[in-house]
Amino acid sequence: MFIDPFGRPITYLRISLTDRCNLRCVYCMPQEGLHWQARADQLSADEIVRVVETAAQGGVKRVRLTGGEPLVHPHVVEIVRRIASIQNIEEVSLTTNAMLLERLAQPLADAGLKRVNISLDSLDADKFRLITRGGDLARVWRGIAAAERAHLSPLKLNTVIVRGLNADELPALARLTIENDWHVRFIEVMPIGNAQDWGEGFPAPSECYVSVQEMRAALSTFDPSTSSGLRLQPVTAPMGNGPARTYRIPGALGTVGFISPLGEHFCQNCNRLRLTSDGKLRSCLVIPAEVSLRDAVRSKKPLEEYFQQAILQKPEHHDILVATPAGSQRGMSQIGG
Ligand code: GTP
Ligand code: 5AD
Ligand code: SF4
Repeated sequence: MFIDPFGRPITYLRISLTDRCNLRCVYCMPQEGLHWQARADQLSADEIVRVVETAAQGGVKRVRLTGGEPLVHPHVVEIVRRIASIQNIEEVSLTTNAMLLERLAQPLADAGLKRVNISLDSLDADKFRLITRGGDLARVWRGIAAAERAHLSPLKLNTVIVRGLNADELPALARLTIENDWHVRFIEVMPIGNAQDWGEGFPAPSECYVSVQEMRAALSTFDPSTSSGLRLQPVTAPMGNGPARTYRIPGALGTVGFISPLGEHFCQNCNRLRLTSDGKLRSCLVIPAEVSLRDAVRSKKPLEEYFQQAILQKPEHHDILVATPAGSQRGMSQIGG
């Protein structure tokens, strides 16, 4: 069993299938100038499956596919099918921007995918296009509808809150959960990824951070559509033991969650390892230490000791603070969030 030096069982693996993405969210990637990994440096489907087999033998039960954007990977459906059939793997899920989900939701569900977390940073099509630098909100809604038809459930929506950009949409996004069985999670922007100037029309990265405390206060004090505050009752999170703290508006079908990697970090409950698309195991999103298992996979060596090495590197907690650029040499799109 994989247990880290602080007694935390490692039961969850996040796999970044690719560093490529069909969007360029401002807080994640610069518009231009990214250096893409060479295809030859990336793990193949066979290689990913071998890594997951070792992870499953060590006690990993859940696998989440991330990116970049996992749906731009040409073999994503096959990878889901193969991972879902590995013994001991109880759940395969995926985090996506949903631009390609309309067509892929049903094939992914047929392949064994259980659920999806979808990024949705604005309910306004123009603002959505601005934040994602070209995203099409109508397409995302069609992707969400397709996920529901394919019974990919529970459906979670991720909103990174950025001051001066979408913080005013907190109440409207939270209210989506009243009539929909959706789980909206508000995320503090992390200083990983695109920490340089975001360009014309965007706030300065150093000014964009909103803490979850401030988000909760904003929700409880003001809702333009009702001219009153929203009441949030703490509840247990729907499926998934990720980092969100979860609440429900009384009577609502869905829930409202807050993910606070900075203000109220959740490292004490961390259950995860990450695999990058170029075959490195990372023990933490923030700490730059990595163990490369690509050569070992390619030379068919046993992989368990690489996992043990990565788990030994797992820090008790990170200590990044707001607007302090993190020690990570990789951006968010190369780690997968
Ligand atoms: P489930 O609970 O399984 O549904 O997933 P999740 O919420 O962990 O996954 P998702 O990919 O939707 O991540 C949502 C946000 O949480 C993203 O912004 C991630 O970067 C952030 N996040 C996920 N895991 C960690 C972590 O270990 N550390 C930090 N600091 N942030 C994380
Ligand atoms: N801070 C917080 N969340 C981020 N994500 C991407 N970059 C950042 C950042 N700098 C989120 C995406 C997606 C998830 C995988 O990570 O919006 O929901
Ligand atoms: Fe792409 Fe996700 Fe980064 Fe947006 S946050 S650019 S959708 S990887």
